[in-house]
Amino acid sequence: MTDPVIIFDTTLRDGEQSPGASMNTAEKLRIAVQLEKLGVDVIEAGFPAASEGDFEAVSKIAGRLKKTEVAGLARASRGDIDRAWQAVRHAARPRIHTFIATSDIHLQYKLKMSREEVVKAAVEAVRYAKSLTDTVEFSAEDGSRSDRDYLCRVFEAAIAAGATTVNLPDTVGYAVPEEFGELVRYVREHTPNIQKAVLSVHCHNDLGLATSNTLAAIRAGARQAEVTINGIGERAGNTSLEEVVMALHTRANFLKAGTGIHTEFIHPTSRLVSMITGIMVQPNKAVVGANAFAHEAGIHQDGVLKNPMTYEIMKPETIGLSASRLVLGKHSGRHALRTQLKDLGYDLSDDEVELVFTKFKELADKKKNVLDEDLEAIVTEGILRTADVFVLDYLHVTSGTTVLPMASVRLKINGRPVRDAGYGNGPIDAAFNTIGRLTGTASELLRFSISALTGGTDAMGEVTVRLRENGLLALGKGADPDIITASAKAYINGLNRLEYLKTHPVQEEAGL
Ligand code: KIV
Ligand code: ZN
Repeated sequence: MTDPVIIFDTTLRDGEQSPGASMNTAEKLRIAVQLEKLGVDVIEAGFPAASEGDFEAVSKIAGRLKKTEVAGLARASRGDIDRAWQAVRHAARPRIHTFIATSDIHLQYKLKMSREEVVKAAVEAVRYAKSLTDTVEFSAEDGSRSDRDYLCRVFEAAIAAGATTVNLPDTVGYAVPEEFGELVRYVREHTPNIQKAVLSVHCHNDLGLATSNTLAAIRAGARQAEVTINGIGERAGNTSLEEVVMALHTRANFLKAGTGIHTEFIHPTSRLVSMITGIMVQPNKAVVGANAFAHEAGIHQDGVLKNPMTYEIMKPETIGLSASRLVLGKHSGRHALRTQLKDLGYDLSDDEVELVFTKFKELADKKKNVLDEDLEAIVTEGILRTADVFVLDYLHVTSGTTVLPMASVRLKINGRPVRDAGYGNGPIDAAFNTIGRLTGTASELLRFSISALTGGTDAMGEVTVRLRENGLLALGKGADPDIITASAKAYINGLNRLEYLKTHPVQEEAGL
């Protein structure tokens, strides 16, 4: 017998707090639709009071999803709660998530409030949220470093005021598993009305213990886990959805709890989030890393061939990695392409498939086999990127041992064509200098990396850049068989993300 654990996904809120991971509304909507398909119970779609962009994204997601609960985050203030409610009110299943810190260090230095004042603020916030909707979550920020009895008192008051979920965050990733499990047990035993609410946990990964802490909490009776795809989030990130879900799935015999997640969508969802945010998944990442199912040692390979269960505790198919995908080439048609895209988790409209098909044919003319990674790059370039201010129209570079590297570039800026040419230390430098001048931007290039998406000299090159302008950070990604074009695309993608951030400023005081 397994007990159900509610999966609360905060990729679009805490996950978006990863440095440089800002997403626009269309990108968030696409991830939300995929999360619904994955079967998460609650999506925290954003923090509506933080910015107009967040408000717009939460409202759009609320209007779109049919089954999944949509939560909006709010500090314990009427203004924030009103804003969150305005954004989620059209959801089939809305939730307001309000929070205030409960640790003495936060009370003294951040809030400058007494314990009594915080209890009062929490109660007023929950009561007000409850007057707007039935489903109200209350979080005690920095709960793991709060006085235990005070924490129980705040939870008791919040539940009495109408909270249907109380959440215990390990905000700074300080807890260790035994201690955190023990704290959850304590809260369950010392909060008199705890059975009237769901007890949730929300862990950060500063010590690499977020998943372990979450599992310890579930063992101790927590019944909601707050997670993000690929574990992205503030600083070292949040508990990763795929790790918790697959641990519960694989070790149900011991953990005796389960989720309603359709695990076969885990891998496609992980790829989608990585493609949209530009945050790569480390190759050795549990469950979704590129090497998670790769067996290198001969002795392991031999064992796996005789019986996969010798070294594989999970089947790759369970998370949506299919071993027997079609290999597409220039003779493949639309049907094969659509099937492959579906397998990869991309449910595209007819128009979108048509667009991908055109680019796929162009690539297949240059490259014998078009692999999954190539297709994903085409989808990211052509479909997932939307509402760009700057679009690359034309790029020509000259370089070599005897010429000064030069780039000639034509861009469209909000649809208007502009052109220029310039020099640099190398062809990429020349292209970046020219693009920077044409766009009138002054970003600083903090990181530049190139990798080959697949093997062979005809592989697609993937470039990631990290840019900073006036304190704003953005990642950009680009892929192309020509690495100079891939670099220019990545740079322009980063500049587009910076433009988005300039026009959707986050309210300073709303930052968590
Ligand atoms: O880490 C944290 O404490 C949070 C709360 C807002 C739940 O993200
Ligand atoms: Zn958090």
